[in-house]
Amino acid sequence: MSIKIVTIIGARPQIIKAAALSRAIRTHFSDQINELIVHTGQHYDENMSEVFFSELGIPQPDYNLQVGSGAHGRQTARMIEGIEDILEKEKPDYIVLYGDTNSTLAGAVAASKIHIPIVHIEAGLRSFNKSMPEEINRILCDHCSTLLFSPTKTGHENLVREGFNPANTAPFSSDNPAIYHCGDVMYDNSLYFSDMAAGNSKVLEKNQLTPNKYILSTIHRNNNTDEPKRLGAIFEALLQIVEGGGMDLVLPLHPRTAKMLKNNLSANTFTKLSRSERIKIIEPVSFLDMIRLEQQAAMIITDSGGVQKEAYFFKKPCIILRPETEWKEIVDAGAAIIADADKARIVQAWEQFTSAPPQQFPEIFGDGKASEFICGEMVRNA
Ligand code: UD1
Ligand code: UDP
Repeated sequence: MSIKIVTIIGARPQIIKAAALSRAIRTHFSDQINELIVHTGQHYDENMSEVFFSELGIPQPDYNLQVGSGAHGRQTARMIEGIEDILEKEKPDYIVLYGDTNSTLAGAVAASKIHIPIVHIEAGLRSFNKSMPEEINRILCDHCSTLLFSPTKTGHENLVREGFNPANTAPFSSDNPAIYHCGDVMYDNSLYFSDMAAGNSKVLEKNQLTPNKYILSTIHRNNNTDEPKRLGAIFEALLQIVEGGGMDLVLPLHPRTAKMLKNNLSANTFTKLSRSERIKIIEPVSFLDMIRLEQQAAMIITDSGGVQKEAYFFKKPCIILRPETEWKEIVDAGAAIIADADKARIVQAWEQFTSAPPQQFPEIFGDGKASEFICGEMVRNA
């Protein structure tokens, strides 16, 4: 007997995460799981969406809601409407939701109202900062899910603290949910695509980057892009680091940030940035190119959740441009430093890692088989 799942994707990191589960289904569960993919259309630029399908071997979506960008309420509402129709028609055994985006929230609202069990992958993560839209999305999603898969021990502990009972037994439901600590599907991906990236990507040559002589950076978090003071402090720090350190810096720029640079940077910083020969601002890159950039970087400076983790997977020091992180373990291990959007703290973190690079990268994110575990539990508990 085969179960039917509806997977919701929408934003770049969800498409990448979904590749891991789709691969596990194709390889080990093809006669037990029938997956339908729904793309909400939250991300739609070629290099934020389509590029990942062909490169990572993800089946083309069965449905695309094409909601596009917009205010959070309007965007989420359009997704809920579209997802509800699909769930009513397809009547799946589960809806599978990733992470903490508006697409995740929309899936959770639509499914919970019509009693479709929710599988939440990346459950339990918390920043304890409710001004982040993602914190609201993930809390709401967790609290109406049936199977909750946490990538880390901390995530699992957060769920227990919020009242989830690890001793619950089957049959599971949203009133009697199951929580698991199962490792990270992004780690599965990094292991799987690592050699492929090393063999196929020409991103270093294309951008004239020398291994270990450049910093990789990504910036897209809304409180950084939309607050001129924070955005300015980050770019002033990056300019100071590259000018003083003899390093290049490559910045595959999220379209959100690209749109904000001119308006939210001072004229002085914007001019310095435009003239800098060391800072290379490029379009968002494919996942294989991104992995290659991560593998060969001297250091990674980011406000991305996924890129923080990938820095750790590839044993690179990471400076986090946020006031806190959900990936507390990588800071505790000494592999990442929280510097927020504070110029002095960013530069200081850079100096600290340059003089004393982290040595310890204990295994935090599982064994590379999280996706298989998740598939197994879905089948067992359907
Ligand atoms: C979303 C997620 C965030 C995640 C990020 C991954 C929410 C609330 N936020 O943030 O958690 O880390 O995706 O990248 O769901 N845009 C384009 N082209 C695109 C997509 C977006 O130009 O293909 C621009 C639009 O101007 C849009 C802006 O980026 O308004 C923001 O896009 P949106 O999806 O709302 O949020 P992200 O910042 O991408
Ligand atoms: N990524 C990518 N190309 C880029 C930037 C990021 O493929 O130009 C990948 C990155 O390797 C990671 C994921 O996108 O797997 C992270 O997504 P993002 O930073 O957009 O969102 P977050 O993880 O913060 O939600």
